[in-house]
Amino acid sequence: MKKELCYLAAAFFLVLIYPSCKKDNKTNEVPVVPYTPTPYQLKVPAGFPQPVLPDFNPLTEEGVRLGRMLFYDSIVSSNGLRCASCHDAQKAFSKGIFVLGGENISVPPLENLAWNPDFEWFGQVNALDHVPIGDFTPDFFNPNMDTLVRRIKNHPQYPTLFYQAFNVSDVGAITHDELKYKISYAIIQFVRTLISSNSKYDRFVKHQVILTPEEMDGYITYYTEKGDCFHCHGSILLTSNTYNNTGLDTVFTGQNQGRYLVTGNPNDIGRFSAPSLRNIELTAPYMHDGRFQTLDDVVEFYNSGVHLNSLNIDPLMTKPAKLNGLQLTVQDKANLIAFLKTLTDTSFINNPDFLPPH
Ligand code: HEC
Ligand code: HEC
Repeated sequence: MKKELCYLAAAFFLVLIYPSCKKDNKTNEVPVVPYTPTPYQLKVPAGFPQPVLPDFNPLTEEGVRLGRMLFYDSIVSSNGLRCASCHDAQKAFSKGIFVLGGENISVPPLENLAWNPDFEWFGQVNALDHVPIGDFTPDFFNPNMDTLVRRIKNHPQYPTLFYQAFNVSDVGAITHDELKYKISYAIIQFVRTLISSNSKYDRFVKHQVILTPEEMDGYITYYTEKGDCFHCHGSILLTSNTYNNTGLDTVFTGQNQGRYLVTGNPNDIGRFSAPSLRNIELTAPYMHDGRFQTLDDVVEFYNSGVHLNSLNIDPLMTKPAKLNGLQLTVQDKANLIAFLKTLTDTSFINNPDFLPPH
């Protein structure tokens, strides 16, 4: 009897310590198998140019998988934030306004970024892979790096995924900086896969659908001198990737100084990166500071609100035909917006490969 009690006590004790044993053993449970990442073939849509991809962060199936998990996981932050907090799939991976240093910044969508030459509203960052490094700052994720290392090591999947993606079998054995870069590289591998190419407009370009008469009229306004949108928001990517001052302001303080804040060149005061208009219906409010709530507001700005005397205003904005505004009728404006809405790609925002992993 006594012996049985003893067994029972021993069994009970084992049950008690088992979870902590398991946890300890788990931290470095990386399989001893060769490191053989599988190249990921980016699906370049028909009609798109070939993107320029960096050699230092080749796309792999394993890297994309790790990046997708991290994109949706608050494990990296000390405050519950994750990339998806500000980059919401349902809004083409954008989300309203973020207030930084007392100023409103409109969160841009994450779509077709493999084709962008530089990033953020003033083009602050040259390599997409380095954008998330900025998220480790106190204004964003503010992680304690020792805690982060511990969390990753204790996680049931991350140790294996870091090994499969980057040949790192112990995230505690690399420097904190190296870890930040691995995390950023993985997340950006996932971000590069976020391709939007199946809007009604895309299907129209491929002659698979026709536009309504209203949309067609808006298309003509967009692509002719009448509206003149295509010079800056043209090509299949719906952006020329240029920096322009469209005459939003006449006084430039704080972030409204735009690209000048990066280059220090006075000719860049008031210039901003011309964004792609893909999924524009989903990404309100508009402009770098989100000053316009609706597409009606934006179109009315181009129609009648441009400050022609703005410093460094783009010559495209001051063509002789535009000196009294675009003079669009109520119908013209409605049709232009109907066209802009053909740029919405619902298969992009609902693509199961882009949503949180199970
Ligand atoms: C708290 C909100 C917030 C979080 C969290 C956040 N972002 Fe952003 N993101 C922004 C804002 C705001 C900008 C625009 C910054 C600017 O242009 O000055 C931006 C810009 C970007 C851009 C540039 C897009 C372009 O078109 O140039 C990329 C890429 C990006 N974020 C990816 C990420 C990734 C990946 C994460 C997670 C590691 C992340 N963001 C987390 C708010 C956020
Ligand atoms: C000279 C170049 C230029 C022309 C022409 C131009 N745009 Fe823009 N557009 C820009 C730039 C640059 C921005 C970003 C400005 C900012 O945020 O300060 C922008 C922003 C926008 C935005 C907001 C995008 C966002 O993500 O917030 C919309 C919508 C837009 N333009 C639509 C149009 C339409 C419609 C036309 C034609 C009537 C047009 N644009 C003509 C350069 C141009």
